[in-house]
Amino acid sequence: MVLVDADFIPVRPAPMRGPRNLVKIIRTIRDNAIAAWSDEAYERDYIFYQMFMRRVLLANHPDLIRHVMLDNVANYVRDPLGQRILEPGLGNGLLTSEGLDWKRQRRLMAPIFAPRRIQAFGPLMTGCTVALADRLQEGQRVDMAEAMMHVTLDIIARSMFGADPASDVSQVGAAMDAYQATVKPGIADLLGLPGWFPRPGAAKGRAALSQMDTIINGLIERRRSQIASGAPAGDDLLGLLLAASDAEAAPGAKGMDDREVRDHMATFFLAGHETTATALAWTWYLLSQDGGVQAKLWAELDAVLSGRDPVWADLDKLVYCRMVVEEAMRLYPPAHSTSRIALADDEVMGVKIAKGTAVIVSPWLMHRHRRYWAEPDRFDPENFAPEKAAARPRFTFLPFGAGPRICIGMGFAMAEAVLILATLARRFRFELAPGAVVVPVAKITLRPQPGLPMITRLR
Ligand code: HEM
Repeated sequence: MVLVDADFIPVRPAPMRGPRNLVKIIRTIRDNAIAAWSDEAYERDYIFYQMFMRRVLLANHPDLIRHVMLDNVANYVRDPLGQRILEPGLGNGLLTSEGLDWKRQRRLMAPIFAPRRIQAFGPLMTGCTVALADRLQEGQRVDMAEAMMHVTLDIIARSMFGADPASDVSQVGAAMDAYQATVKPGIADLLGLPGWFPRPGAAKGRAALSQMDTIINGLIERRRSQIASGAPAGDDLLGLLLAASDAEAAPGAKGMDDREVRDHMATFFLAGHETTATALAWTWYLLSQDGGVQAKLWAELDAVLSGRDPVWADLDKLVYCRMVVEEAMRLYPPAHSTSRIALADDEVMGVKIAKGTAVIVSPWLMHRHRRYWAEPDRFDPENFAPEKAAARPRFTFLPFGAGPRICIGMGFAMAEAVLILATLARRFRFELAPGAVVVPVAKITLRPQPGLPMITRLR
């Protein structure tokens, strides 16, 4: 049976209404950050807030966002609040570095994520998904949020270390996953309290981190010694990174030290796995509620693939597949918000931004802004039809950020999401389990909670 529901409105938490006070706001942000936005945050160009010791500006207009993320980007650094949460795990990687150090790292890494390079990961992306498909049966109940987490974890771990046949990628994945589960902002972080202030859960995080480090460091050490004895660096992300850094180093000198390599590996893992998994989980949820979109997707898959699994060369033809993923990321952007701190006084659009202000850019709000989307809360992949997308102002759709710090893994993630969607959707349809209620909850990413229980149906 094909479900067609013209009245389907994807789930979203109600905007915060009634009197606002700091305790209520902090509690809401801790439990579900997107539920703290009031109705006006979906309509206004900008709003100033005072959050205890922090002056906060919500930048909610494309020109404001463009100014902060691109035109005057030198005046805005990533928010130390986010950095404090991420730094223990990511050290000084691309996501956590600033200034010249960031520039050097980004230049070094850009070729690794160039389309001609990431294309080599295509078979891995499809292969890991086929392995999942082979385990699914008609009528089987499956938590699709968890299943997407496993498949993207498998893909990123193999992309990073897969060139080493002795590496146990599931062990790497499990250790990193355990650490990731401990990464979340606490009240002390939200209030902007200093780093020495005791944070509950920190000890658990440190233990998981040390286990993750032992495994990653062991893999790096082994690869270094293989290279020293004449083996090629390997064509996984670790090999590409070691080769790129050695090529950049002065003649005879070693490139990055092991600490830097470890920081990059941890960054790729943490930035590049849960995000894609979450985008896909929401895609399955949305598809399950709209038979019309599902039918259109199948028509494209049948026409392009004629019953086989997708390969990289199909990506250009899987136009509707991509539109569905983009619309899912519009409604549920995995990276729901980001923030920057102003280094000096600034002014744009007549808005005065004092030095030290925390500027929040929220894809969650921008993607549902009343002025830029005709029906902001409806699921409609046609929003991403090429002519419609081209007509919309830039900086209204920013699931991967914007400006020089735009996600370096964007090409990898989009290819991965489309290949996973196409591989599974050509075989199956997933129904939301009867009685299941899912809610978007913003922690580090915007996850469906308490999970996404679905029933597998063969097409
Ligand atoms: C759907 C999947 C993904 C989403 C939604 C996403 C989103 C983002 C966003 C919004 C940023 C910018 C953050 C900011 O400006 O504060 C970012 C940065 C970054 N992402 Fe992604 N990402 C995804 C997948 C990936 C993948 C697959 C990788 C790597 C394998 C990756 C690696 C990174 C790195 C290293 C940065 C930091 C870039 C820099 O600061 O120069 N991401 N991502």
